[in-house]
Amino acid sequence: MKKVQASITLAIDAKAKQMIADGIDLVGFGAGEPDFNTPENIKQAGIKAINENKTHYTPSSGLPDLRKLIAEKLKRDNGLDYKPGQVIVSCGAKHSLYNIFMAGINPGDEVIIFSPYWVSYAEMVNMSQGVPVFVELDESRKFEIDFDLLKKKITKKTKAMIVNSPSNPTGGVFSRETLEKLAEIALKNNILVISDEIYEKNLYNGKKHISIASLSPEMKAKTAVVNGLSKSHAMTGWRIGYVAADDAELVKAMDNLQSHSTSNPATPSQWAAIEACKTDDKVVQAMVAEFDKRRQYLFKRVNAIPGLSCVEPDGAFYVFPNFKKLIGKIINGKKIEGSLTMADMLLTDAKVAIVPGIAFGSDMHFRMSYGTSMANIEKGLNRIQDYLK
Ligand SMILES: Cc1ncc(COP(=O)(O)O)c(C=O)c1O
Repeated sequence: MKKVQASITLAIDAKAKQMIADGIDLVGFGAGEPDFNTPENIKQAGIKAINENKTHYTPSSGLPDLRKLIAEKLKRDNGLDYKPGQVIVSCGAKHSLYNIFMAGINPGDEVIIFSPYWVSYAEMVNMSQGVPVFVELDESRKFEIDFDLLKKKITKKTKAMIVNSPSNPTGGVFSRETLEKLAEIALKNNILVISDEIYEKNLYNGKKHISIASLSPEMKAKTAVVNGLSKSHAMTGWRIGYVAADDAELVKAMDNLQSHSTSNPATPSQWAAIEACKTDDKVVQAMVAEFDKRRQYLFKRVNAIPGLSCVEPDGAFYVFPNFKKLIGKIINGKKIEGSLTMADMLLTDAKVAIVPGIAFGSDMHFRMSYGTSMANIEKGLNRIQDYLK
């Protein structure tokens, strides 16, 4: 545990919370979750489960009906054939990822993580005593993979590779061509691909989601597909995620691990998840349409602020502005040294909360979530613009 870092953003987060408690009018872009409420029919299914006393243990890997519905979803949306027994339902996609690392990584195994990356990947690899190996993405090509660099980072110890498309924090979406190249490399080097598809539904500009597991039966055999309902169905607090994999040994190991750690995810949440799986995708698409309006506005306005530049995100619900040109500049006697000072200055002086990029492996970016209202986005951007001027 000594290798696992405390969240570097915690101090800023604590300060933001204190400012709100003190009655300061803060605009928050920090949320890693949709601001929408869980759709009504899903909430009612959870309430009904409680009223009907569906409050006992379930099989530790989840209700058979839920696993079956998830297998059907993977077939319908992703063209993937899994049996319900190959699906494990966990307490959020984060928990699914944790199970994979704990069950699949031995001490010293190297895990490729494309950078910028979601902060928990690196720490979960550390917790499993694996070694995170970062591969920088090329921002000038919309955070594309530099395959020469990737090949250089692969060693005999490379055990797994995380593919997160659409990505948190960049909003980047890998093309079919990129995924095909990745699959070729993974198969050639016998690397397990952990495909985190949690933002699958949050796609814009006509982009379509492709699961790397769907590229070939060989690739499916070397992939663990991770997904969940948090981001698609605005169900972050219900804690339902899942993993599906062909590798029977890995599935069995995760099943054992979960059965001796958390047991099943909360039973009423699983019933709500059953309802979510049966809910028309239009409900999800309505939220995505609203996200898209905010995305377009935010992206345009950020790029119009001198000193900031931002790659257009095609997925997720974040923009990831680069402020390299502002490093070393002084505002009101305070020097912008990196993303932590930038975050602190924006918080203290402009009353805007963002997430410093260092949490995602880049000290010259910050992350802004558009899981907040259009009015807030406008207000927050005005403040950032005025402050940086
Ligand atoms: C890239 C990514 N993967 C996984 C998760 C975990 O989602 P949850 O555990 O809420 O299902 C998150 C949440 O922020 C995320 O951003």
